[in-house]
Amino acid sequence: MQKINEILNSDIEKLDKCKYCGKEYKRIEYKLFEGKPEEKILRVQAPACNCLKLREEREKASIEAKEKKEKLDKLFENSLITPYFKKKTFENLQTKAEEYGNEKELKKLLQYAQNFKKGEMPGIFLTGKPGTGKTSMLAAVCNELIKRGFNVLFVTFSALMERFLKYSAEHNGDIYPLLMWLVKFDFVVIDDIGRENYTDRRKEIAYRIIDTLLNYEVPAGFTANPEMLERLRKIEDWGAVLDRLKDICGLAINFKGESLRGRKW
Ligand SMILES: Nc1ncnc2c1ncn2[C@@H]1O[C@H](COP(=O)(O)OP(=O)(O)OP(=O)(O)O)[C@@H](O)[C@H]1O
Ligand SMILES: [Mg+2]
Ligand SMILES: [Zn+2]
Repeated sequence: MQKINEILNSDIEKLDKCKYCGKEYKRIEYKLFEGKPEEKILRVQAPACNCLKLREEREKASIEAKEKKEKLDKLFENSLITPYFKKKTFENLQTKAEEYGNEKELKKLLQYAQNFKKGEMPGIFLTGKPGTGKTSMLAAVCNELIKRGFNVLFVTFSALMERFLKYSAEHNGDIYPLLMWLVKFDFVVIDDIGRENYTDRRKEIAYRIIDTLLNYEVPAGFTANPEMLERLRKIEDWGAVLDRLKDICGLAINFKGESLRGRKW
């Protein structure tokens, strides 16, 4: 009790100063036990500037920015996108699209990426001659979706197949867990279908990958060039897989241009 009385009665002689801007603190008085015999005035001092609040806000913002960057880095890492395709953004492709003749295709895909909503999108099927920009455009879709916080995967069909074959060999042929890893993504790019050689096991895995994407309604983007599609059609059982692909893909775009590769030389 004695302590409190001391505090209550002590006048604030010397005011502190803000250690950031040097401004003197302000005096504040509170009436305690008002109207009662023990009525007291409590005098305290408080900062007269908002340096502390500003610092707290800045700290919070910097923590949030750091968390956002970490999340983005993680999304990029999970996507398996290579440094080369990480640079293929709509912004970059836009500047040359007219010259390369794929401006219309770019617009459609940009719209797809901008309107992307979880679980509501059709798949994409891009066909066209080699070097017309199919893979670059799907990379741009992925980069845009990652920027918007979606979890995407960007792989060639060959690389995905190798991953499944390795997993299968290490797990007695059980690829179900890896299929479940695949369907956790919001958008999956499977680049260059048809380039790989098909054994029976590879055919079975390809079928299960497509079938699972379809059953779990994962929007996927595929690219293929006409020769590869021709090749695929000739392989027994691939007819069924191609039919399923058509089911997944509501957005089919044919890149009409000639090869643009190596233009800058
Ligand atoms: N709009 C664009 N702006 C700048 N570069 C472009 C554009 N479109 C395509 N390119 C360039 O053209 C080249 C070929 O593109 P890409 O690899 O995407 O073609 P592709 O159709 O996937 O070929 P393939 O069928 O052989 O896989 C790349 O160097 C790519 O950067
Ligand atoms: Mg390609
Ligand atoms: Zn201050």
